[in-house]
Amino acid sequence: MPSTRMVQGMDGLIDSIPLLVCVAGPDGSIASANGYFAQATGFTKGELAGMSVFDLVSERKGALKETLAACDSVKEVDVLVKRKDGTEFPGILAASRQGDSTIGMAITESSRLRQENEELRRKESLKDEFIAIASHELRTPIQPILGLALLAKKGAISSDEAWDSVLKEARRLTQLANDILDVSRIENGTLRYNFAKANVAEIVDYVVRNIKMGELGREIDFSVSMDDAARAAQCDLDRQRITQVLTNVIGNAAKFTGKGRVAIGARIDAKNSWYDIVVSDDGGGIPAAVLPHMFKKFITRSVGEGEKHGSGLGLFISRAIVASHGGTIYLYNNEDRGATFVIRLPFERPNALA
Ligand SMILES: Nc1ncnc2c1ncn2[C@@H]1O[C@H](COP(=O)(O)OP(=O)(O)OP(=O)(O)O)[C@@H](O)[C@H]1O
Ligand SMILES: [Mg+2]
Repeated sequence: MPSTRMVQGMDGLIDSIPLLVCVAGPDGSIASANGYFAQATGFTKGELAGMSVFDLVSERKGALKETLAACDSVKEVDVLVKRKDGTEFPGILAASRQGDSTIGMAITESSRLRQENEELRRKESLKDEFIAIASHELRTPIQPILGLALLAKKGAISSDEAWDSVLKEARRLTQLANDILDVSRIENGTLRYNFAKANVAEIVDYVVRNIKMGELGREIDFSVSMDDAARAAQCDLDRQRITQVLTNVIGNAAKFTGKGRVAIGARIDAKNSWYDIVVSDDGGGIPAAVLPHMFKKFITRSVGEGEKHGSGLGLFISRAIVASHGGTIYLYNNEDRGATFVIRLPFERPNALA
């Protein structure tokens, strides 16, 4: 006979495993169900304890009692489990039999449902992790803003000195908040695009001009080269979002090069189906440790203060935007120095082609 402590231990274990579990005696009366099972059916554990398996499940093909009587040892039957609200979900009832009688039954979800539940739990935990990192990242620029404001108020530093840094940190905070919003829209599938025919070369020129004027471009020698066909070409795209992608990729090239050259080129592939924007730098290249994780969230290598400190969301967002245009981003380390990123856009987005 198992001791009471052992049975209580088993109950605790059954309650904590991330599976739906409901156990019933030989006559079908439910002996216990775990929290996951109660949650999935909408009944409380107390309500379930007063019910019979035969009220709770129905066999997909035929009558459950007859199916059980016709088998020996362990039998698994595909069933539909009723929820309190009258809806049903697919499950498995396993009955253990000895001789003529059933000695116990257990109900759990079908493997497909189990996979869906596991996927749901995995997504939940990734979401929790994202919220934890995002909150931490959001707090980072707030500390210096508070510290500098207090120092300036006490007269320990000049207001001008404080303003410069406060503005820098506030810009960083705004950028980070926008990026976090974008990530959440990408993951919910709610990032909206305004597609229209646009000249890509104009966007490249605009982005390069902006970066040249900012802190990142100060010590970079930029060059833009493309033939007449690439200069004239129009793609079906969201101008604002592609500007965001190019700002990140060209900005990265400048940021991770520091002092050196960034060459931007554009080309149309021979069959006229792709427009490639190629961004090449002569910086340190992509470290082997970062390479396999480039498009994951919060992968970042800090290269200094202020605008040079990134959150590591840029490439995750860039890839999602380009994918929504039916394109891809790929990259490689150059043979001599630095890295090359290729942003490949189709002339027409896929659903427009369809
Ligand atoms: N041209 C490059 N040369 C070397 N490393 C790069 C280059 N581009 C990206 N990386 C590496 O990939 C990481 C991810 O880039 P990503 O644009 O996602 O983040 P970030 O620039 O650090 O931050 P954010 O873009 O969110 O401001 C960078 O932190 C850096 O380690
Ligand atoms: Mg970046």
